[in-house]
Amino acid sequence: MNPFWSLLLAVFLVFSVQNTSFSDAASHKQLLQKAQQSVDAASIKIDKAHFYPQYHLAAPANWMNDPNGFSYFNGQYHLFYQHNPFAPKHEKMHWGHYVSPDLVHWKEMPIALAPSEAYDKDGVFSGSAIVEDNILYLFYTGHVVNKKDDKTEIHQTQNLAMSKDGINFGKSANNPVINMAPHYSVLNFSLKDFRDPFIWKQSDRYYALVGSQYEKTKDGAVLLFKSKDLRNWVFINITAIGSNGEMGYMWECPSFWHIGSDDVLIISPQGIKPHGKMFLNKYQSGWFVGKLDYDTGKFKQKGPFGLFDYGFDFYAPQVIKTPDGKHVLIAWLDMWDTKIPETAEGWAGMMSIPRELKILNGKVVTAPYSGLKALRYDSANYKDQKLNGTREFSRINGNAYELIVTADLTNAKSFAIKLRASSSQETVLSYDKESKILKLNRDKSSSVPEHMLTGEREASLPLADNLLKLHIFVDKSSVEVFANDGQVVMSSRIYPDKNSNDVKFVSDGEVKIKSLDFYKLKSINN
Ligand code: FRU
Repeated sequence: MNPFWSLLLAVFLVFSVQNTSFSDAASHKQLLQKAQQSVDAASIKIDKAHFYPQYHLAAPANWMNDPNGFSYFNGQYHLFYQHNPFAPKHEKMHWGHYVSPDLVHWKEMPIALAPSEAYDKDGVFSGSAIVEDNILYLFYTGHVVNKKDDKTEIHQTQNLAMSKDGINFGKSANNPVINMAPHYSVLNFSLKDFRDPFIWKQSDRYYALVGSQYEKTKDGAVLLFKSKDLRNWVFINITAIGSNGEMGYMWECPSFWHIGSDDVLIISPQGIKPHGKMFLNKYQSGWFVGKLDYDTGKFKQKGPFGLFDYGFDFYAPQVIKTPDGKHVLIAWLDMWDTKIPETAEGWAGMMSIPRELKILNGKVVTAPYSGLKALRYDSANYKDQKLNGTREFSRINGNAYELIVTADLTNAKSFAIKLRASSSQETVLSYDKESKILKLNRDKSSSVPEHMLTGEREASLPLADNLLKLHIFVDKSSVEVFANDGQVVMSSRIYPDKNSNDVKFVSDGEVKIKSLDFYKLKSINN
């Protein structure tokens, strides 16, 4: 754009921010204050000694789900999240807010958005952020539930809020900026399942992907919209859609990234049916590698849908491109409609560790974000250890650590690591060489009925040269496993007793542990 028009547009944008952020500001501010008081009061009462994470993000109190608006603004990373400040359950969603200098240490900020308007009265649902002309713009879904007689009608719209300081957000007077999904007779998209806008900029135009359902076939889909000014949007096309219900009935939390020479479309589909031992979780999160045609708005996938994570708890990831060009992902480390035992302690839900996303041989892989090394404070390192049966290492134990094991299984049938173990409890990660399957079993992750979560998840993992590398992150109520540099990732919440801190290495046959590196990890609030 020529400099004159850029300047004019910048002046217009700044003016319109000032213009729109005050219309509802007073009542929104009051609602935010009430929400903040509620969460502050609840947070003091929480016993953070047992399950509350040491180096993962959780709400100060009450409910957390999806990460939202992951962005970099005024020299800081911003991560917002779906938050109910009033109770540890999913209701009246707000946007909570954390900031970080490094994606590792986080600081709580005042709650950013509250339901305050007719178009978002029943929830400020998930969305994304974009920075333009020193303004942080948040796009979110306004959730409205109307009860007429004995009928419930849900309407979801896309809305805009903005901030010049990254702390106080005003909602646009133009809201809703996208009022409904294309709902004409041919394009019959759901008005009630139309949410989670993801905004990006390409060649002077803004694009928005919104998750939805094609009502005729009940297939999940993502819809593409385009805008010149972030306020007026036109529908372009159905960017991607499932068929025969095989990819579920609704695609939540879409996002789109250009990585290397490929495009990546990320979705969180609801309703994929289990196939054997795959897709056992209620909902999934994964990716397609392919190419977006900006003219037609169509995404052409190059290969099949891939999962980010094969464990029990991982959903609705968001990605940020860091100033130094890395793609870093954070997800909700829980799953819908599961028991979340910390609810009894006054909080519910936490985030994954940040993970770096790359494309390797046409597949998306994720590995722990390298910046996490800043949390290491005490280490135990071993080389060339023989294992035949069960073995423990005196300095390897705890409830908040990182463990990296490279094992040569040439002369072994199987290898297992029992985490957060005691005489009665263990979370078992095991690999069977013949079947080439990695399993995570949490049948005995606790022996206390209220904390028990049972079941097993598995993934296929062929080895090269019989070498298995496991990079494990354990926190007070979670485990995240990255196998062979992120080829397979498994994440789960677990709720062992405070003193179930042993780590046991078990083999059938002889395993040569080539290297074993253990680090205790500091709190992210230090
Ligand atoms: C995904 C999701 C989103 C929605 C939000 C509501 O977990 O269902 O689709 O916007 O959570 O909290």
